[in-house]
Amino acid sequence: MVNIPNTFRMDVRAKIYAEYRSVDELRELLQQYRGERLLHIGAGSNLLFTGDFNGVVLHSAMRRARATREDDSHVFIEAENGLVLDELIAQLCDMGLSGMENLSYIPGEVGASAVQNVGAYGVEAKDVITEVRALAIADGSERTFTHAECCYGYRDSIFKNDLRGQYIITCVTYRLDKQFVPKLDYGNLRGEVGANPTPMDVREAVIRIRRQKLPEVSEVGSAGSFFKNPIVPREQYEAIAAQYERVPHFDQEGGVKIPAAWLIEQCGWKGKTLGGAQCYAKQPLVLVNTGNATPQDVITLAQNICNSVHDKFGITISPEVNYI
Ligand code: EPU
Repeated sequence: MVNIPNTFRMDVRAKIYAEYRSVDELRELLQQYRGERLLHIGAGSNLLFTGDFNGVVLHSAMRRARATREDDSHVFIEAENGLVLDELIAQLCDMGLSGMENLSYIPGEVGASAVQNVGAYGVEAKDVITEVRALAIADGSERTFTHAECCYGYRDSIFKNDLRGQYIITCVTYRLDKQFVPKLDYGNLRGEVGANPTPMDVREAVIRIRRQKLPEVSEVGSAGSFFKNPIVPREQYEAIAAQYERVPHFDQEGGVKIPAAWLIEQCGWKGKTLGGAQCYAKQPLVLVNTGNATPQDVITLAQNICNSVHDKFGITISPEVNYI
């Protein structure tokens, strides 16, 4: 058994851990391990392993990116699945290309960005993804998915639903802008950015904000936001707003988004620990491993938090991380 890398720093093992450097190598691995349980991971930054994995864990060591075409306003960048998303964004900001700077410092790799539709500070991966290339696990054939075919939603895509476990994303094309129109409307981003910012200035401001609120992946075990922010019917929000002062909320299509962080804080979980797992004091949406958390500690803490949010507010919050 070999250790599985994961940012939650869970001590978990798989039968086999294999990396590939080309799509052909990936095909060979799929042939070789046909019949085994398979799990393809990125940086392991959005996963909670509930125990050892009795199968084969695959990871991409394909890390190239190149411009494939451009028009008057855009440059299209095709990036391989194993490239660290933030390394790509740093290079793009350096080149003065914009559109992804608000996604700076999100842990994870290109392939996962297209599965999970990662998002931050008013931008989601779906806003810049134009197409996704993927390999069918069943027969090794390649397929290109248009943006529409990916069925993107909040932290959601077809690869998490109808096509779950059927394809491995190998390549993602992002559309970058040549002309910079900063998107600064989320939270205090505008205040953190100076006048006439460049994409790099926005990137640096996003990194500063993230560092203040979120645990450093290199220092503390976590998988970022553990829960999704719930969207509730307007009447339910209004009933809560009548009982509590200043309920943070964001109008959405089909309802009102209430930050899970606020709900969890109201239930008194901020900073609370269970075994080695902790509800992060600076951002209670995040659960962290204080050093010796077991998967069960995290699962129980998450369940207790969900239960108390449900008891107090009648709202079901669901995990954003994938349980394996
Ligand atoms: N809040 C509290 N108490 C706290 C912290 C926050 O009540 O201790 C409330 C505040 O009202 C605040 C609101 O929560 O305005 C929102 O907080 P924040 O701006 O930090 O964002 P979030 O909703 O908690 C989401 C994403 C993050 C992303 C940020 C910024 C999800 C699940 N999470 O968090 O994504 O970085 O917005 O765009 O949508 C991730 O997915 O791993 C992640 C970190």
